[in-house]
Amino acid sequence: MSKQRVLTGITTTGTPHLGNFVGAIRPAIAASNAADTESFLFMADYHALIKCQDPALVRQSSKEIAATWLALGLDTERAVFYRQSDIPEITELTWILCCNAAKGLMNRAHAYKAAVQANEEAGEDPDFGVTMGLFSYPMLMAADILMFGAHKVPVGRDQIQHLEMARDIAQRFNHNFAPLFTLPEAEVEDHVAVLQGLDGRKMSKSYNNTIPLFLPEKQLRKAINKIKTNLLEPGEPKNPDDSTVFQIWSAFASAEETARMRREFEQGIAWGDAKKQLFELVNDTLAAPRERYLQLMADPAHIEQVLQRGAERARAFSVPLLAQVREAVGIAPMR
Ligand code: TRP
Repeated sequence: MSKQRVLTGITTTGTPHLGNFVGAIRPAIAASNAADTESFLFMADYHALIKCQDPALVRQSSKEIAATWLALGLDTERAVFYRQSDIPEITELTWILCCNAAKGLMNRAHAYKAAVQANEEAGEDPDFGVTMGLFSYPMLMAADILMFGAHKVPVGRDQIQHLEMARDIAQRFNHNFAPLFTLPEAEVEDHVAVLQGLDGRKMSKSYNNTIPLFLPEKQLRKAINKIKTNLLEPGEPKNPDDSTVFQIWSAFASAEETARMRREFEQGIAWGDAKKQLFELVNDTLAAPRERYLQLMADPAHIEQVLQRGAERARAFSVPLLAQVREAVGIAPMR
C-alpha cells in the first residue's frame, strides 16, 4: 500500500497551551509516527501575519511553537517539518491559484463573511478592517495543501470549508490546465479531547482561560489551583462529569488512573487534593519536555538548522511541482 500523505499547518500566533497539546500537538505527533503515513507539518507564519501585525510577537510565537513541537518529541527525520515562509513556491502558487479561482468562492468563506456581518451590525462599511490577507486566507491555505499533494488534512470543524475550497480550486486547475493536483480530504478530529480552560469553557486564547504548556513548575501549580470548582466540601460526593479538574485529569491519565479518580470524586475527594494530584500528573508529564523546551529556546540556531533541513526536504517536492504548474499555465522559458 502506498503511504498516505498527511499535512498539518500550525498558525504561529500565541503561546502553546495545554489545550493545543491535547487537541492538536499530541495527536499529530502520534500520527506522524504511524508506519503507513508520511507527515508534512509546518508553521504557517504567513497565515500568522493576517491576525498579527506585531513583528516581535510573530517572531516569538514562531520560535515558541517550533521549540514546543521539537521538545515534545516530533521526529523530524520522519516528518517533514518546515516553515511556510521558507518555501517560496507556496506563495508563487498562491498567486497562480488566485488567477484561476472565482472571487465569488472567497466571498463565501466563513471568516470573511463573519467580519462583513459584524461590520454591518455595527453600521460600518462592510469591508471595514478586512485586509486582502483575510479575504485570500483560503487561497494561501489551498496552496499549502496542493503544493505537497496531501491526501489527508486533519482539521477542526471550522476548517472543513477551507478544505472544500482547496478541492474545488484543485479540480478547476486540473480540468483547465493539467492534472497536477491531488484532491485533499479533510479528516475531522472529533475523537480528540477538547480541553476545558480555567473557567470551564473550551480552553482558548480568545477566552483568556488557558494554561500555557511550559509554565515553570510554581506557576503551573498556581494556574491549576485557579481552575474553577464549586463549593462542595471535602467528603461531599462530586460529579466528575461536570468538573474541569476531572476533565483535564482524564486527558493526561491512563484509563485505570481515570477510573480511580472517578471513584475518588464519588467518594468526596477535597478540591485541594484533586488539584494537587492533577498538578503532579501534569507536571510529571511535562517536566522532561519543559527541560528540552528551555534548552531549545536558548539555542535558536539549532531550531533554525532543523527548519532549514526541513525546508530543503519540502522543496524537493515543491520546486519540481511548481515548475510543472508554471509550464502548464504558460510561464515558461523562451524556446
Ligand atoms: N488555517 C489553519 C488553522 O487556523 C492553519 C493552516 C494554514 C493549515 N495552512 C494550512 C491547516 C494547511 C491545514 C493545512 O488552524
